[in-house]
Amino acid sequence: MTSESFGLMTPERSHTAPLQEHIDRAIHDLIASCPNAEQLSPDEQRGIIARYTAVLEGNFIYWMTAAYLSVVSQQAHSIIQENLREEVRDNHPGMLRKFAIAAHAVPTDSDALAVYRNLENVRLFVGRLSGVKIVLMMAFFEGWITRFMPYLEGLAKRQGSAEQEYTDVHGVVDVVHTQELFRALEAEMRLSHDPLPPPTELLEGVGLLRSLIQTILHLRAAGPALAP
Ligand SMILES: [Fe+2]
Repeated sequence: MTSESFGLMTPERSHTAPLQEHIDRAIHDLIASCPNAEQLSPDEQRGIIARYTAVLEGNFIYWMTAAYLSVVSQQAHSIIQENLREEVRDNHPGMLRKFAIAAHAVPTDSDALAVYRNLENVRLFVGRLSGVKIVLMMAFFEGWITRFMPYLEGLAKRQGSAEQEYTDVHGVVDVVHTQELFRALEAEMRLSHDPLPPPTELLEGVGLLRSLIQTILHLRAAGPALAP
Protein backbone atom coordinates (compact mmCIF):
# COMPACT_ATOMS: atom_id res chain seq x y z
CA MET A 1 0.00 0.00 0.00
CA THR A 2 1.30 3.48 -0.84
CA SER A 3 0.34 6.88 0.47
CA GLU A 4 -1.56 7.59 -2.76
CA SER A 5 -4.17 5.03 -1.77
CA PHE A 6 -5.17 7.27 1.11
CA GLY A 7 -6.66 9.89 -1.19
CA LEU A 8 -7.25 13.13 0.70
CA MET A 9 -4.59 13.91 3.26
CA THR A 10 -5.71 14.83 6.75
CA PRO A 11 -3.06 16.55 8.91
CA GLU A 12 -2.36 13.23 10.69
CA ARG A 13 -1.98 11.39 7.41
CA SER A 14 0.44 13.94 6.12
CA HIS A 15 2.55 13.06 9.18
CA THR A 16 2.28 9.32 8.74
CA ALA A 17 2.62 9.21 4.92
CA PRO A 18 6.44 9.65 4.83
CA LEU A 19 6.77 7.03 7.58
CA GLN A 20 4.56 4.65 5.66
CA GLU A 21 6.58 5.22 2.50
CA HIS A 22 9.78 4.43 4.39
CA ILE A 23 8.21 1.22 5.70
CA ASP A 24 6.90 0.24 2.25
CA ARG A 25 10.41 0.69 0.84
CA ALA A 26 12.03 -1.29 3.65
CA ILE A 27 9.58 -4.16 3.07
CA HIS A 28 10.16 -4.05 -0.67
CA ASP A 29 13.94 -4.17 -0.20
CA LEU A 30 13.72 -7.10 2.21
CA ILE A 31 11.52 -9.09 -0.16
CA ALA A 32 13.85 -8.29 -3.08
CA SER A 33 16.83 -9.49 -1.02
CA CYS A 34 15.39 -12.96 -0.35
CA PRO A 35 17.86 -15.55 -1.64
CA ASN A 36 16.75 -17.50 -4.70
CA ALA A 37 15.15 -20.59 -3.14
CA GLU A 38 16.31 -22.79 -6.03
CA GLN A 39 19.91 -22.03 -5.22
CA LEU A 40 19.63 -22.83 -1.52
CA SER A 41 20.61 -26.20 -0.10
CA PRO A 42 17.87 -28.07 1.81
CA ASP A 43 19.61 -27.12 5.06
CA GLU A 44 19.69 -23.43 4.10
CA GLN A 45 15.98 -23.61 3.26
CA ARG A 46 15.31 -25.29 6.59
CA GLY A 47 17.36 -22.59 8.35
CA ILE A 48 15.23 -19.71 7.07
CA ILE A 49 12.00 -21.39 8.22
CA ALA A 50 13.59 -22.28 11.57
CA ARG A 51 14.94 -18.78 12.26
CA TYR A 52 11.60 -17.25 11.21
CA THR A 53 9.89 -19.58 13.69
CA ALA A 54 12.44 -18.83 16.42
CA VAL A 55 11.67 -15.11 16.09
CA LEU A 56 7.91 -15.17 15.52
CA GLU A 57 6.57 -17.97 17.68
CA GLY A 58 7.38 -16.57 21.08
CA ASN A 59 7.73 -12.88 20.39
CA PHE A 60 4.97 -11.60 18.15
CA ILE A 61 2.23 -11.57 20.80
CA TYR A 62 4.71 -10.29 23.41
CA TRP A 63 5.66 -7.33 21.19
CA MET A 64 2.05 -6.61 20.26
CA THR A 65 1.29 -6.65 24.00
CA ALA A 66 4.08 -4.10 24.51
CA ALA A 67 2.39 -1.93 21.86
CA TYR A 68 -0.89 -2.27 23.78
CA LEU A 69 0.78 -1.23 27.05
CA SER A 70 2.53 1.71 25.38
CA VAL A 71 -0.24 3.49 23.49
CA VAL A 72 -2.49 6.09 25.10
CA SER A 73 -5.36 6.66 22.65
CA GLN A 74 -8.62 4.78 22.90
CA GLN A 75 -8.57 4.02 19.18
CA ALA A 76 -5.07 2.53 19.22
CA HIS A 77 -5.97 0.41 22.26
CA SER A 78 -9.03 -1.06 20.60
CA ILE A 79 -7.23 -1.75 17.29
CA ILE A 80 -4.31 -3.51 19.02
CA GLN A 81 -6.64 -5.40 21.35
CA GLU A 82 -8.50 -6.83 18.36
CA ASN A 83 -5.21 -7.90 16.81
CA LEU A 84 -4.15 -9.62 20.05
CA ARG A 85 -7.52 -11.29 20.49
CA GLU A 86 -7.24 -12.91 17.07
CA GLU A 87 -3.64 -14.06 17.71
CA VAL A 88 -4.61 -15.71 20.99
CA ARG A 89 -8.06 -17.03 20.06
CA ASP A 90 -6.89 -18.62 16.81
CA ASN A 91 -3.65 -19.94 18.34
CA HIS A 92 -1.28 -18.40 15.83
CA PRO A 93 1.85 -19.59 17.70
CA GLY A 94 0.51 -23.15 17.51
CA MET A 95 -0.21 -22.70 13.80
CA LEU A 96 3.39 -21.62 13.23
CA ARG A 97 4.75 -24.54 15.27
CA LYS A 98 2.73 -26.97 13.12
CA PHE A 99 4.08 -25.30 10.01
CA ALA A 100 7.68 -25.70 11.25
CA ILE A 101 7.16 -29.33 12.27
CA ALA A 102 5.66 -30.23 8.88
CA ALA A 103 8.63 -28.60 7.11
CA HIS A 104 11.16 -30.41 9.35
CA ALA A 105 12.34 -26.99 10.45
CA VAL A 106 11.77 -26.81 14.20
CA PRO A 107 14.36 -24.32 15.55
CA THR A 108 17.50 -25.82 17.06
CA ASP A 109 19.96 -24.29 19.54
CA SER A 110 22.08 -22.94 16.70
CA ASP A 111 19.06 -21.35 14.98
CA ALA A 112 18.21 -19.60 18.26
CA LEU A 113 21.82 -18.51 18.66
CA ALA A 114 21.96 -17.13 15.11
CA VAL A 115 19.18 -14.63 15.85
CA TYR A 116 20.11 -14.04 19.49
CA ARG A 117 21.87 -10.69 19.31
CA ASN A 118 19.45 -8.92 16.94
CA LEU A 119 16.48 -10.38 18.79
CA GLU A 120 17.82 -9.07 22.09
CA ASN A 121 18.23 -5.60 20.53
CA VAL A 122 14.54 -5.56 19.58
CA ARG A 123 13.56 -6.79 23.06
CA LEU A 124 15.51 -3.99 24.73
CA PHE A 125 13.88 -1.44 22.42
CA VAL A 126 10.39 -2.86 23.08
CA GLY A 127 11.04 -2.70 26.83
CA ARG A 128 11.23 1.09 26.63
CA LEU A 129 7.48 1.08 25.88
CA SER A 130 7.53 3.95 23.42
CA GLY A 131 4.04 3.91 21.87
CA VAL A 132 4.46 5.56 18.48
CA LYS A 133 7.77 3.80 17.79
CA ILE A 134 6.45 0.35 18.70
CA VAL A 135 3.28 0.78 16.64
CA LEU A 136 5.46 1.75 13.67
CA MET A 137 7.62 -1.32 14.21
CA MET A 138 4.58 -3.60 14.39
CA ALA A 139 3.03 -2.06 11.24
CA PHE A 140 6.32 -2.84 9.49
CA PHE A 141 6.33 -6.37 10.96
CA GLU A 142 2.77 -7.13 9.81
CA GLY A 143 3.43 -5.68 6.38
CA TRP A 144 6.59 -7.70 5.89
CA ILE A 145 4.98 -10.93 7.17
CA THR A 146 2.17 -10.60 4.61
CA ARG A 147 4.57 -10.07 1.73
CA PHE A 148 6.89 -12.86 2.91
CA MET A 149 4.23 -15.60 3.04
CA PRO A 150 4.50 -16.82 -0.59
CA TYR A 151 8.29 -17.20 -0.22
CA LEU A 152 7.95 -18.98 3.15
CA GLU A 153 5.33 -21.31 1.72
CA GLY A 154 7.61 -22.07 -1.25
CA LEU A 155 10.45 -23.05 1.11
CA ALA A 156 8.14 -25.35 3.08
CA LYS A 157 6.95 -27.06 -0.10
CA ARG A 158 10.56 -27.70 -1.07
CA GLN A 159 10.98 -29.32 2.34
CA GLY A 160 8.14 -31.70 1.40
CA SER A 161 5.45 -30.00 3.48
CA ALA A 162 1.82 -29.57 2.47
CA GLU A 163 0.89 -27.63 5.65
CA GLN A 164 -0.31 -24.16 4.61
CA GLU A 165 -2.67 -22.95 7.31
CA TYR A 166 -0.16 -20.48 8.78
CA THR A 167 0.86 -18.98 5.44
CA ASP A 168 -2.74 -18.87 4.16
CA VAL A 169 -4.00 -17.05 7.26
CA HIS A 170 -1.16 -14.52 7.38
CA GLY A 171 -1.04 -13.69 3.71
CA VAL A 172 -4.57 -12.30 3.86
CA VAL A 173 -5.26 -11.23 7.43
CA ASP A 174 -2.19 -9.09 7.92
CA VAL A 175 -3.04 -6.74 5.05
CA VAL A 176 -5.96 -5.55 7.16
CA HIS A 177 -3.83 -5.54 10.32
CA THR A 178 -1.19 -3.32 8.70
CA GLN A 179 -3.79 -0.76 7.64
CA GLU A 180 -5.35 -0.82 11.11
CA LEU A 181 -1.97 -0.25 12.75
CA PHE A 182 -1.45 2.85 10.63
CA ARG A 183 -4.83 4.09 11.87
CA ALA A 184 -3.62 3.42 15.43
CA LEU A 185 -0.48 5.39 14.62
CA GLU A 186 -2.51 8.37 13.42
CA ALA A 187 -4.56 8.29 16.63
CA GLU A 188 -1.40 8.24 18.74
CA MET A 189 0.19 11.08 16.84
CA ARG A 190 -2.99 13.14 17.20
CA LEU A 191 -2.77 12.82 20.99
CA SER A 192 0.88 13.71 21.21
CA HIS A 193 1.25 17.13 22.84
CA ASP A 194 5.01 17.43 22.46
CA PRO A 195 6.52 17.93 19.03
CA LEU A 196 7.26 14.53 17.55
CA PRO A 197 10.88 13.50 17.14
CA PRO A 198 12.25 13.41 13.57
CA PRO A 199 11.35 10.37 11.42
CA THR A 200 14.84 8.85 11.82
CA GLU A 201 14.21 8.63 15.55
CA LEU A 202 10.63 7.38 15.18
CA LEU A 203 11.85 4.60 12.90
CA GLU A 204 14.35 3.25 15.46
CA GLY A 205 12.36 0.05 16.06
CA VAL A 206 11.82 -0.46 12.33
CA GLY A 207 15.60 -0.38 11.83
CA LEU A 208 16.25 -2.87 14.64
CA LEU A 209 13.57 -5.24 13.40
CA ARG A 210 14.89 -4.96 9.85
CA SER A 211 18.33 -6.10 11.06
CA LEU A 212 16.69 -9.04 12.81
CA ILE A 213 14.78 -10.02 9.65
CA GLN A 214 18.01 -9.80 7.66
CA THR A 215 19.47 -12.37 10.06
CA ILE A 216 16.49 -14.63 9.38
CA LEU A 217 17.04 -14.35 5.62
CA HIS A 218 20.83 -14.32 5.36
CA LEU A 219 22.64 -16.37 7.92
CA ARG A 220 26.05 -15.95 6.32
CA ALA A 221 25.63 -12.24 5.57
CA ALA A 222 24.90 -11.72 9.24
CA GLY A 223 28.30 -13.16 10.19
CA PRO A 224 29.02 -15.98 12.58
CA ALA A 225 26.53 -16.64 15.32
CA LEU A 226 27.51 -14.61 18.35
CA ALA A 227 27.42 -16.00 21.82
CA PRO A 228 25.48 -13.94 24.36
FE1 LIG B 1 -0.53 -14.09 13.60
